[in-house]
Amino acid sequence: MPERQHAEIEWNEGGVPVSTRFADPYFSLADGLAETRHVFLAGNDLPARFVPGFHIAELGIGTGLNLLAALIAWREAGMEGPLRYTGFEAYPMTAHEIDRALSAFPEAHAMAGPLIAAWHAGATRIENDMLHATLVFGDARETLPTWPGRADAWFLDGFAPARNPELWSPELMAQVAAHTAPGGTAATYTAAGFVRRGLARAGFNVERRPGFGRKRHMTVANRA
Ligand SMILES: C[S@@+](CC[C@H](N)C(=O)[O-])C[C@H]1O[C@@H](n2cnc3c(N)ncnc32)[C@H](O)[C@@H]1O
Repeated sequence: MPERQHAEIEWNEGGVPVSTRFADPYFSLADGLAETRHVFLAGNDLPARFVPGFHIAELGIGTGLNLLAALIAWREAGMEGPLRYTGFEAYPMTAHEIDRALSAFPEAHAMAGPLIAAWHAGATRIENDMLHATLVFGDARETLPTWPGRADAWFLDGFAPARNPELWSPELMAQVAAHTAPGGTAATYTAAGFVRRGLARAGFNVERRPGFGRKRHMTVANRA
């Protein structure tokens, strides 16, 4: 098994982790949680589409902020049983770094105990009443093709496509499509042309929507 790689980060003045490998922040410098809600939750029409057993998958789980935002929405929607969540990650942060990054979002941090504990223990499963999560470590180009699951909603959250093109390639978007349940959706903050074309070629109906904050556009996709 190849040795696991790790995140290389520095912290900006606002407490946001910035990847030095990709020269890009992990989430919006303005308000990461609000961005997550706009792009990934509303972009996938959540919480309206939540049903028992709903399964979200994410390319680039990073700090887990998106997972926690989804979990808050799941709880607020009063859903029965656990949310299913699979997070792909090639360069995991340490549990301490995740704890530090999430401390900027008290609402999310308050829910982060099981995630941080699992991370600390090197576990790849989190199972409790509210969440059944699987962490898939390694390059998503290698791990996604062999993943046996199918998600109802995808959070496509690589670093900026120009800096992290491997996480947005047409081949990987085809794998995302192949691992999407019928009627499933995907959302991302980017409106980069090659990402949109890759999703369309993979069989998604692709739509441009207003982006978060200063970003004019973002992308949503569905497999009707
Ligand atoms: C913008 S950050 C994600 C932020 C995260 N969703 C959050 O809520 O904090 C992009 C993530 O993609 C990961 N990544 C980059 N290339 C990857 C690859 N080839 N396979 C899997 N993950 C990758 C990075 O390590 C990073 O965690």
